[in-house]
Amino acid sequence: MRKIVFVTTNNGKFHEVKKIFETKNLEVLQNKDGYPELQHDDLEPIAAYGAKWAAEKLKLPVMVDDSGLFIEALSGFPGPYSSFVEKHLGNHGILKLMSEVKNRAAFFKSVIGYCEPGIEATVFTGTVEGTISYEKRGTEGFGFDPIFDYNGVTFGEMNDDDKNKVSHRRKALDKFYEWLD
Ligand code: IMP
Repeated sequence: MRKIVFVTTNNGKFHEVKKIFETKNLEVLQNKDGYPELQHDDLEPIAAYGAKWAAEKLKLPVMVDDSGLFIEALSGFPGPYSSFVEKHLGNHGILKLMSEVKNRAAFFKSVIGYCEPGIEATVFTGTVEGTISYEKRGTEGFGFDPIFDYNGVTFGEMNDDDKNKVSHRRKALDKFYEWLD
């Protein structure tokens, strides 16, 4: 079975990636060393920089996942700042910001960065569109899952398998797998 090192401290991401790759006969190993996060408006350069940095540091082929929630009415906020905003404002803070807002459109984006030592990183992108719910629903998943409504059900109300069929991460991983193969 082929093995791949996934550098992430986010157990939610790791769990999802592990499950998706299990079906493709790829074993994913978590490395929690972390990497410096480039400040950028787009996720692609952040993922590419992180993957390159970690591959050179660990002297191994590695993958990273940089992802975020982009809310249309907030001009794409929190986007690349999703992790910070989730930690400091949380779902409650986002719902408060959105309390008077009619346009609830939002999307999740995941960028997988893959890099081998000595070469440049390659990135793979996936998105999923939905809306911001009016209240938190469900306890599954992680992060903004309980406020991201996908066709009437939040990601927080979906089990892993159902989220993994449609998620931004799944779409990015499908592209990555096709490329690896
Ligand atoms: P990163 O570690 O900089 O990639 O930050 C990603 C952040 O975006 C996470 O900490 C979550 O707040 C949010 N996020 C990304 N993907 C998801 C998801 O699938 N569900 C819920 N929140 C997510």
